[in-house]
Amino acid sequence: MKTMLNVALPKGRLGEKVYAMFEKAGFECPSIKENNRKLIFENEEKGIRYFWVKPSDVAIYVEHGAADIGVAGKDILLEYEPDIYELLDLNIGKCRMAVAGKKDFRDNTQKTLRVATKFTNIAKNYYASMGREIDIIHLNGSIEIAPILGLSDVIVDIVETGTTLKENNLEVHEEIIPISARLISNKASFKFKNAQIETILKSIMQQLEEKND
Ligand code: PRP
Repeated sequence: MKTMLNVALPKGRLGEKVYAMFEKAGFECPSIKENNRKLIFENEEKGIRYFWVKPSDVAIYVEHGAADIGVAGKDILLEYEPDIYELLDLNIGKCRMAVAGKKDFRDNTQKTLRVATKFTNIAKNYYASMGREIDIIHLNGSIEIAPILGLSDVIVDIVETGTTLKENNLEVHEEIIPISARLISNKASFKFKNAQIETILKSIMQQLEEKND
């Protein structure tokens, strides 16, 4: 029996783009395109099994070896620092991590800055690197509301098109880091399933080069 390679794909549009790359690499699994609520799909002949997981959970599956490889945003990797290998920048799912707030916000450096975010680790590291005292307010979503209601002075959040900020009369104050989707691997899997992983890695690298030509 063939060893199966387990791949955690982020549910959603990004995951569909990623699956297309795997398909092009010769690891298709046609049943994945059937419109149903199944979460696991496999092609035994090709030795591959895909599963759809919440984007922010991909790195957990990979770190624990429940998935051999997967695709996760750099934001998640920076936030949770999972013990995995980051194999490749896929150059998709691009956005940036930024500090944003009200347009008329004037920072008083004498005062502790109140920062609302989902990304507490990224925010703490960013402000620590500048020696700035902050209070973190951890939220789970709709972060943009915090400075509007005075819950925080600023937010640290993902900005993609900038529409959410604009429609809420907020603006980017500082850019922290560009974000994109990364191909990641479990450390033991990279050793023991290396041939399969390398085949996929090489093909995807080639696909990215062709895209750039
Ligand atoms: C993300 C992010 C911003 C928005 C940015 O939110 O937290 O709110 O997307 O995108 P834009 O610059 O294109 O407007 P998401 O949709 O993931 O929801 P949540 O953080 O509120 O849960």
